[in-house]
Amino acid sequence: MEKLKKIILAYSGGLDTSIAIRWLKENYCEEVVTVAVDVGQESDLDFIKEKALKVGAVKSYVIDARDEFASKYVLKGLQAGALYEQQYPLATAYSRPLISKILVNYANKENAQAIAHGCTGKGNDQVRFEVSTAALDPNLQVIAPAREWGFTREEEIEYAKKYNIPVPVDVNNPYSVDQNLWGRSCECGVLEDPWVEPPEEAYEWTTKVEDAPNQPTYLEIYFEKGVPLSINGENIVLPELISRLNKIGGENAVGRVDMVENRLVGIKSREIYECPGAIILLAAYNALEGLVFPGDLAHFKQIISQKYAELTYNGLWFSALKDALDGFVGIIKEKVTGTVKIKLLKGQSVVVGRKSPNSLYDFNLATYDKGDTFNQDYAKGFIQLWGLPSKVYASVNGNNR
Ligand code: ARG
Repeated sequence: MEKLKKIILAYSGGLDTSIAIRWLKENYCEEVVTVAVDVGQESDLDFIKEKALKVGAVKSYVIDARDEFASKYVLKGLQAGALYEQQYPLATAYSRPLISKILVNYANKENAQAIAHGCTGKGNDQVRFEVSTAALDPNLQVIAPAREWGFTREEEIEYAKKYNIPVPVDVNNPYSVDQNLWGRSCECGVLEDPWVEPPEEAYEWTTKVEDAPNQPTYLEIYFEKGVPLSINGENIVLPELISRLNKIGGENAVGRVDMVENRLVGIKSREIYECPGAIILLAAYNALEGLVFPGDLAHFKQIISQKYAELTYNGLWFSALKDALDGFVGIIKEKVTGTVKIKLLKGQSVVVGRKSPNSLYDFNLATYDKGDTFNQDYAKGFIQLWGLPSKVYASVNGNNR
């Protein structure tokens, strides 16, 4: 096979993608250009940039994509109310299509024939990278070294040593971690036994409930047309607002998720997530919707949320269905303006108040006290008609249930 001229590699600075630089040159191409994308993972990007060059990349890009990640991916997911299997806020899943988009841009700019990523063949991320790439540029090849090379961890380290590739100090860390603005995921090691309680060292963003303060922390989050704009009256740009909630939530032990999830490739996997900001914002958003949406819309939105989470998880971010759901969410979010009061205490984030200029809550209809305007006489006729089909059915089929 003739070698390709150039490949764009999604680079994290870790062992796998560092080895991949060398391995790609050995097996696939003459030149590797690395692209590291900052989606708020808080790694040392200068170090990563230099490392890629040291290991053999011809060029090494570092792209700050935090604003785009927050406003075009995370915010969309927040407004859609997406939670995979009702628990996972999809942090990793949002980052993959954005990283793919950036890789494709650089591939075009650099005249590369292929992109490459460091995913194995067992996870969702390979699907997300490759389906996204195909949707954005069907002519680009995708190469997945870690799916092909068949190295064990030991063989990887050996390979690295042989070619003078620096081995990270935490190479013996048993966990596989991915993180960004919207959350942190942790898998592997003892976590692979779903019966074993996660050891404290699996967590990094959150304190344990036992150590969280005994006094509550109150937050007031203001949303305008579906966008969270301020905390306790202070305007904050979105990436910063999310980080701030991660911090405050984490200190109050809010945001731990321990679940067994269904991967697209058919594997059940035990995952630990830390996502305080996501948990707080999703609950707050939902509470505000509850105030401003008519009941039927609020109920229909649940179907949208579930579909949105599924397609995001399954790598279909760049799809017609996603665009159509965005259209729906884009319309209904216009009413989501108002303030939500949240109480953080000992691992719980609880909505304890909400108000909105678009509120459909009518005190006089709801109250059992003075001022009641609801005409209870109407209920009688309503129930007779509502129950009419049940009555007719029972009269034909009997009522012995
Ligand atoms: N299970 C999560 C997902 O599929 C997290 C994946 C984390 N990825 C990783 N390469 N460690 O979205």
